[in-house]
Amino acid sequence: MLVSAKEMLTKAKEGKYAVGQFNINNLEWTKAILLTAQEQNSPVILGVSEGAGKYMCGFKTVAAMVSAMVDSLGITVPVALHLDHGSYEGAKACIEAGFSSIMFDGSHYPIEENVAKTKELVAICDSKGLSLEAEVGAIGGEEDGVVGGGEVADPKECKMIADLGVTMLAAGIGNIHGVYPENWAGLRFDTLDAIQQLTGKMPLVLHGGTGIPADMIKKAISLGVSKINVNTECQLAFAAATRQYIEAGKDRQGKGFDPRKLLAPGFEAIKETVKEKMELFGSVNKA
Ligand code: 13P
Repeated sequence: MLVSAKEMLTKAKEGKYAVGQFNINNLEWTKAILLTAQEQNSPVILGVSEGAGKYMCGFKTVAAMVSAMVDSLGITVPVALHLDHGSYEGAKACIEAGFSSIMFDGSHYPIEENVAKTKELVAICDSKGLSLEAEVGAIGGEEDGVVGGGEVADPKECKMIADLGVTMLAAGIGNIHGVYPENWAGLRFDTLDAIQQLTGKMPLVLHGGTGIPADMIKKAISLGVSKINVNTECQLAFAAATRQYIEAGKDRQGKGFDPRKLLAPGFEAIKETVKEKMELFGSVNKA
């Protein structure tokens, strides 16, 4: 059964660790993440962007695949199926399709409009027992064609959105999606600290988890980050392992072209990446 992310994130905030959100792209991705969460006895959040949802034949297909897989694999750790950077329409479609958690990213709207739309979705999600993530201050970099400006959020605006009753709040603190450029200035801990001082117990979300050094991750967790999103790092690990397999000519040996063999090294590489992140975030044995 899929669960809301509320309980796992409340516990994470209290226990000073973070739950990983790992984005899924297909069946192999989903299976690798679910099995690793079970092996590590860790709660987990599966992230689905609108682009990935389309790629996987729509949110209904995704919800059906994930629910069935949780059941067939005998997964007992808490699993939330979460829309990542949802539009207002996308949020409604995922609620309809059976997702257990929603992100509404209204960061590109003027704050008044972000507040109004988030407020409406808080009421819907509350009535259905779903968790809701809101965003203030666009996260930089590109994700699925959506380019964010890399803003640093205004803590007072964060407080306005947090007070609407959302479950968790993503705020731009100099983080960006994808690989960080060499001249990246690092996370803005002064802003994160100011946001936490105003929002108190609200679990904070750190997007762009790929490539953030371990010491910065730990410091962010100490300042109230309870959910960390990772996408690109699993993609890079999958691509590198697949490249190695093909460059070694293994697809030409015996039945090495069989997708169950060809995709196996990439699958294992995703598992290894997810395991490392769960250890770093401190969510192992917190199911
Ligand atoms: P990365 O691709 O940089 O890991 O970011 C993932 C993310 O924030 C998804 O919302």
